[in-house]
Order: sequence, then C-alpha cells, then structure tokens
Amino acid sequence: QSISELGDLRGKRVLVRSDLNVPLDGSTITDDGRIRASAPTIKALSEAGARVIVCAHLGRPKGTPEDRYSLAPVAARLGEVLGSDVTFATDTVGESARAAVDSARDGDVVLLENLRFNAGETAKTDEERAEFAGQLAGLADVFVSDGFGVVHRKQASVYDVARLLPSAVGGLVETEVGVLKRLTEDPERPYAVVLGGAKVSDKLGVIDNLLQTADRLLIGGGMVFTFFAAQGYEVGKSLLEADQVDKVKGYLDQAKERGVEIVLPVDIVAATEFSADAEHDVVPAGAIPADRMGLDIGPESGVLFAEKLADCRTVFWNGPMGAFEMEPYAAGTAAVAKALVEVTAKGALTVVGGGDSAAAVRQLGFEDDQFGHISTGGGASLEYLEGKELPGLTVLDETGGATGGSDS
Ligand code: 3PG
Repeated sequence: QSISELGDLRGKRVLVRSDLNVPLDGSTITDDGRIRASAPTIKALSEAGARVIVCAHLGRPKGTPEDRYSLAPVAARLGEVLGSDVTFATDTVGESARAAVDSARDGDVVLLENLRFNAGETAKTDEERAEFAGQLAGLADVFVSDGFGVVHRKQASVYDVARLLPSAVGGLVETEVGVLKRLTEDPERPYAVVLGGAKVSDKLGVIDNLLQTADRLLIGGGMVFTFFAAQGYEVGKSLLEADQVDKVKGYLDQAKERGVEIVLPVDIVAATEFSADAEHDVVPAGAIPADRMGLDIGPESGVLFAEKLADCRTVFWNGPMGAFEMEPYAAGTAAVAKALVEVTAKGALTVVGGGDSAAAVRQLGFEDDQFGHISTGGGASLEYLEGKELPGLTVLDETGGATGGSDS
C-alpha cells in the first residue's frame, strides 16, 4: 500500500492528490505549510523517475473557474520548495493538462489547475463524480493519495480515482495517520485536548469522543461562549450558538460523571466590536458587559491553561483561542502555543491540528519543530479523532492499495 510497493516508477505517469489549500492574501501565500508538507512525496516520486502529475484544490469555488482560486501562485511556490521547475496546467483535464502530461519527461512535475473548477470533483452522486474521476485517471498510470487534509471528503480526486487506478498511500498521509493513531490508541497520560475556533457545532462529534478518551478538555475561542451560556453566564455580544446550549450542558454533566476535567477560561478580553481598534478590557468570565464581545481568553486564563498542560504527556490542540489575527486578541493563542512548546521540550507528544491553528502558531513566530507534529488536516484530523470512517482512507483499504486497481 506504500509507494515502495508500486514497483519501478521510471517513466510511469503518477497522479498525486495533495492538499495545497493554502491561505492567500491576493496572490500572496500567507502560510506555505501545506506546500512544504506535500513536497517530500512529490520529490521522492520525481527522483524515482516518475512523471509526477500533482492535483489539488484551493478554496471552495463552485465548479467553474475563478481567478482568485487559481493554483498558479501555488505552482510557483511548489517549484521553489522542490528546487525544480513545476509545469502549471491551466486546466484540470483539458487541453493544457493533456499537453503538459504528454510532454513531461521522467522526473518532471506538473501541477493541474484547481480541481474544484470542475463540478464533477465535489458532486454528491457517484455518477456525477465518476466522469471527472475517469478523466483524471486517464491522465495517469497510478495514483498516490497524499492529501491528508481532504481524506474526509468523498470527492472524485480523493475517493473515486483510487477505484480506477492502482493506488498507494503517500508518505504524508502515512505520517499523519501514524501520529493520530498514537492519540486514539492508548495515549500516554495525562492526555489533554485544547479546543478553540468559532463554532462548537463543528466540534460536537469530537467532543463526544474526547469525553471518553481525554483526561482534560480546555476550551477557548468563539465556542467557549456557548459553554459559558450553559453555565448560566451572560455573554454580551459574543458568539453564541443558542441551539447548542443544551447539548453543551449535557457535555458538562457527562464530563463530571466520567471524571474528565473541563477547563474554561476565568477571564476574557472583551471588545466593543470585532476590530483591532475597538475599545477592549479584560473582564471576569462571568461578567462580560452586555455591549461587549469576547475576542480572546484573558491573561489569567492563559496562565491557568499553561498550568493544566504542564504535566501532560499527550496534547492535541485544534482551533485558536481568540481572534489571533488581530494583535490585541493574540495573547491567548500565543500562551497556549508557548505551553505546548514547553511541554514538548519535556518529552510530551504534542499535535497541532488544523489549518487555522497551524497558521496561527507560525504567524505568532513559533517554528514547526518546536511541536511534536503540526497536522495539515483540520476537519480530517478531527474526524479521525472522532473515529469516523474517512472515505479517502477506506477506499485504499477496499481497493487493496498498491496491488489493487478497479474492483468495479
Ligand atoms: C481544509 O482546508 O481543511 C482542506 O483543504 C479541506 O478543504 P474543504 O473543507 O474545503 O474540503
């Protein structure tokens, strides 16, 4: 199932699904972590003499080309990271793609334009996806699945194409799954999970699961206000998912029964509006004024969270603690990042999951190697921890990976 089991790749056309969905400011890449993480597999295939055809998505275009979602800037950056030329095809399976593949020599790397410019990529029905998957498969001899960040998507380039070509799992997916397995199968304890980000509704499945596996759950970010509401606190103008309050009350009860410690912030940075220039103060968690919104956890909470992480042997973190992209609300996320760095230095396994958290730690000046592992998957890593079946992984098992091919 690994690339090495695909045999001699010299002269073979290898389609690689990578996750190159990077944040952009105009055409400037603001965090190239996913490109750097994807490069080793591409390089290894190129060095093995394959004609490497990389395919990926960017953002969520609705099945037609849109300039702002072009992968052109990513092709340029990928070339820099690889230290070799990358030919950019200006379409996915059309003339440009075919010409680039036909003229590729052994070791060359081609990047196809954004897969989601074609409606077949994300179509809901098998039939709609099949046509596009067939066209993609027609460009190549074998398929390598290396886009960990998309393995939870049942999409043409992730799922269907693996049923049409002999397929193998790429090195990045192998690494990511290996690390996440250590979290789900007998993690060293204490095991703490820090959850942040805007919405509690995105995290319900994973919280259900973590209440059975983790020892401590530290909650920050926009989702914390729904926890506050569940405790009867006023949250002012803060983000609140009123329809989730009962569910969260249930979590608090379950946590008590199971002996899982839920750690909530004790103070909050509350601002008059969602802006870096807004008037803001630190207020106790239970006293957010009616005309204020919480935009970060406060300094005492930063200290509390660091204390709760200091003796942990395993930590998973997903989601920023506040609106870190604005300087006045970045301290909570920085405090958690620093606590993870310190506990990593003491030998704990720390995993930062999710595009936002990964971008946050880099933007705050931390280096990737200060953490145990920075996952390229946001939704994918959460769904893995939830114990859900991930279509991009199960299809490789079903089709027998490297030795299989179409079973239909
Ligand atoms: C991500 O950013 O989590 C992955 O690239 C998947 O993107 P998607 O949520 O748009 O499918």
